[in-house]
Amino acid sequence: MIRNWSLVCLIFVGFFRIGDSEGVPRIGIVGAGVGGTSAAYFLRELFGDSAQIDIFERKAVGGRLAVINIDDHYYNAGGSIIHPQNMYMVNFTNMLGLGMDTKPGSGTFGLFNGDEMLFSTSDWSVITLMKLVWRYGLDIINIGNWVKEKVLKPMQKFYQIQADGHAFSTVEELLSAMDETLVSWTKKSIRTLLKEEGFSDKFIDEIVMAALRVNYGQTTDVHGLVGAVSMAGIEPGLWNVIGGNQKVPQGLLEKSKANLIHGAVRTVTVLSDDTPMYTIHYTTSTDQEKLEMKEYDIVVLATPIYKGITNIEFSNFQKEIEPIDYDFHLTVATFIQGQPNATFFGYDNVNNLPDDILTINDKPFFNAFSKQKPVEPCKEELKNDKAVYKLFSNKVPTEDEINHICPKQNDLRLINWMAYPNYPSSINLPSFILNERLYHINGIEMAASAMEMSIISAKNVALLASYHWNGQYDKIDEMSAESERESRTEKTEL
Ligand SMILES: Cc1cc2nc3c(=O)[nH]c(=O)nc-3n(C[C@H](O)[C@H](O)[C@H](O)COP(=O)(O)OP(=O)(O)OC[C@H]3O[C@@H](n4cnc5c(N)ncnc54)[C@H](O)[C@@H]3O)c2cc1C
Ligand SMILES: *[C@@H]1O[C@H](CO)[C@@H](O)[C@H](O)[C@H]1NC(C)=O
Ligand SMILES: *[C@@H]1O[C@H](CO)[C@@H](O)[C@H](O)[C@H]1NC(C)=O
Repeated sequence: MIRNWSLVCLIFVGFFRIGDSEGVPRIGIVGAGVGGTSAAYFLRELFGDSAQIDIFERKAVGGRLAVINIDDHYYNAGGSIIHPQNMYMVNFTNMLGLGMDTKPGSGTFGLFNGDEMLFSTSDWSVITLMKLVWRYGLDIINIGNWVKEKVLKPMQKFYQIQADGHAFSTVEELLSAMDETLVSWTKKSIRTLLKEEGFSDKFIDEIVMAALRVNYGQTTDVHGLVGAVSMAGIEPGLWNVIGGNQKVPQGLLEKSKANLIHGAVRTVTVLSDDTPMYTIHYTTSTDQEKLEMKEYDIVVLATPIYKGITNIEFSNFQKEIEPIDYDFHLTVATFIQGQPNATFFGYDNVNNLPDDILTINDKPFFNAFSKQKPVEPCKEELKNDKAVYKLFSNKVPTEDEINHICPKQNDLRLINWMAYPNYPSSINLPSFILNERLYHINGIEMAASAMEMSIISAKNVALLASYHWNGQYDKIDEMSAESERESRTEKTEL
């Protein structure tokens, strides 16, 4: 009898032990950009203090959000502008006690065709608006409403959907929950989409083209969704984080109390397909040869696993893990401290140059050339040869090209970014789930690459991970199932 009881006790102890380890997963996140660090933050919220959360970063926390120091001032070197309705970025900035710089530039811009400035603005004044209306008609006003109605509204609605705990297994399901039509936008170019919406060729060839060249280094041949997001990126009211946008991932990392491992992940191996467990092999900066190893129940990939740029191998998977079959776009950011050649742009005085010079075709060797403001509050405006300019191009500029645009330089720096996907006019949308308990945040970049998109995706992946871990499936993809059901009943009613 006593023996039996101890057996029962043993079984119970055993049961609780397993139950306990099931309750507290070990989570490995690869990449400490805004995607990985916000994932750490959301996962901490969902799994609580006792979950083990490790985050691997081979370079600097922040990833594509980074600053560059020139002559004792810092400038955003990667992702810079944030829309006022990007609620995660706004709320994180507030939560972390950071400030918002809501006037990151003067707002003056010009459109350059390689020979002359087609158009330039004094600032966002009535006169500017009149000039714009003169050139583009009502398109210039309609685009603002269109972006608000078709892009920003569905996004705002989606924040509530996420707050209610809905999760999606694919980018397509997620977009459909925002708005049914968004998926169809990923199957045609922004040019086609905007023509269908009644916008003029002139507006598309100049304003939309300029926005795509500065935001994505690409043209109006990109698919409609990323094209529409790009239009939100030239609206008034854009801001950035005081001190640099990388402060947000840095702050999130700290808040999440995740354990930062400075190391490069080499391999993700699945131990068995039945109860998935993963090992991550990585090297640290101290010893590039020596492979270290850690085990995880859940792995979140917060870096682009795309053809051509992925540096992570997957081993022992029954079904091979394929990188997403699209290329990444090279954007070269050249920072120049010096005085631009006003004549180059058809001006006689450098002081009259607009701050943002956007381009509308391939004739100039660059996509955009813009005066920069330091990310730290700066007492006086940096003038003359103290001013810093950022030039975006699709290849490394030659010395001659740089000298032509800016003959005397005090400082010259170059950053090669594998920046965002190269977007065709029609794409296939990837999944967030690569294997059981193995997630990929950056599939969302095929829809559009932006800080806010990475955070939305991170929140989605955190929800997915917690539901899968706890065996709760009712809030996954249920929105689209609901609408399918609805449309089915509609059909039967017909
Ligand atoms: C020039 C430029 C301009 C941009 N402008 C804007 C903008 O104005 N507004 C906007 O919203 N977005 C902009 N973006 C896009 C935005 O920066 C990105 O969408 C966003 O920062 C992506 O964040 P992420 O965390 O998903 O990826 P990343 O920031 O790329 O983070 C991935 C991290 O993983 C690390 N990593 C990779 N492989 C490994 C490995 N094997 N082991 C360990 N660590 C690894 C990397 O070092 C990196 O830190 C811009 C991007 C660029 C490049
Ligand atoms: C942002 O903060 C506001 C105010 O606290 C809150 O109402 C809102 O739900 C938050 N939004 C998101 C997306 O977290
Ligand atoms: C400035 O640009 C003009 C026009 O392209 C060019 O003729 C001139 O040589 C440039 N100046 C310098 C110093 O490179």
